[in-house]
Amino acid sequence: MVDSTSLRPLRFLVFPKFPSPSYDLLCRRPLQGRHSLRLPARIRSSSAVAVESDSSTDQKSALELDLFACPICYEPLIRKGPPGLNLPAIYRSGFKCQKCNKAYSSKDVYLDLTITSGAKNYTEFKPNRTELFRSPIVSFLYERGWRQNFSRSGFPGPDEEFKMAQEYFKPAEGGLLVDVSCGSGLFSRKFAKSGTYSGVIALDFSENMLRQSYDFIKADDTILNSNLALVRADVSRLPFLSGSVDAVHAGAALHCWPSPSNAVSEICRILRSGGVFVGTTFLAPDLNISFLRPYRQTILQMEGNTYGNLTEKEIEDLCTSCGLTNYSSKVQQSFIMFSAQKP
Ligand SMILES: C[S@@+](CC[C@H](N)C(=O)[O-])C[C@H]1O[C@@H](n2cnc3c(N)ncnc32)[C@H](O)[C@@H]1O
Repeated sequence: MVDSTSLRPLRFLVFPKFPSPSYDLLCRRPLQGRHSLRLPARIRSSSAVAVESDSSTDQKSALELDLFACPICYEPLIRKGPPGLNLPAIYRSGFKCQKCNKAYSSKDVYLDLTITSGAKNYTEFKPNRTELFRSPIVSFLYERGWRQNFSRSGFPGPDEEFKMAQEYFKPAEGGLLVDVSCGSGLFSRKFAKSGTYSGVIALDFSENMLRQSYDFIKADDTILNSNLALVRADVSRLPFLSGSVDAVHAGAALHCWPSPSNAVSEICRILRSGGVFVGTTFLAPDLNISFLRPYRQTILQMEGNTYGNLTEKEIEDLCTSCGLTNYSSKVQQSFIMFSAQKP
């Protein structure tokens, strides 16, 4: 459950007058092949969202375009507020699409960059495998027993999975990592704490998973003050500029997505050239009897499996058809960790 009083301190934190060194690093770091996130002054000074701001210095330094893009039209979002990717800075910033004029801001503890953000009467409902994780109970239980159960299917456990992912992410060191479908932030916290990345964005569709992530983050000062942001978004409509991200992690998630092909093509779009995608999921049994293939989903559902598990061949095919290369994988029972790169 969200403790609304725990949010208050964020509003009253004192912010530095100038962008933090880590923010500067994020924007100017000369990573090979990476797009600079600094935008022409012409665009930077054009418009801004009217949000709370403490001083005129803050206003001047904060009229910046960030890596965030409007989930409706993919145009860059203009940001107004203190710079930085840490939770307090994002919480106090407002974002606005310069094309469709839609404004986005933080709701509770996370920045809501879903298409329906701000909608008053409409709520988006997704398939059960997505909706399940929006429940406060599942979000609470996730790191308190639910995730541990994955070991029965061959998942090596968070520490080992993190180590394996870090190996794959070597070409993206020092860059920006998005932990897509982060759940309660189990891996986002590890990535942020590792100091390997200039910034980490923990992204999920579930409001309650993001609230739970915040509860875990606020218990650890080193993570709370690191460049870790919480963003609500749909993996099928990622709110980032094309080619703006160095690494995408998606732990135990692909089988929960409403459309894996929409999701992986979005992941490919936001990765910079050379950027790395690492995912884990539960494999579907590989039915060798090819005439049964079209009915596999129905058969699995009859057995009570409502998830969209894929076979190893399907995952490789999916990554390749979305334009990713250098596919490789490690399998243990029905656990798979796969990696692919943006050419
Ligand atoms: C099994 S949890 C994985 C959590 C964590 N990454 C891990 O490795 O344990 C799957 C997550 O996928 C998220 N998810 C499902 N559909 C989504 C969507 N359309 N967009 C973004 N996240 C989604 C759920 O909210 C849930 O938190």
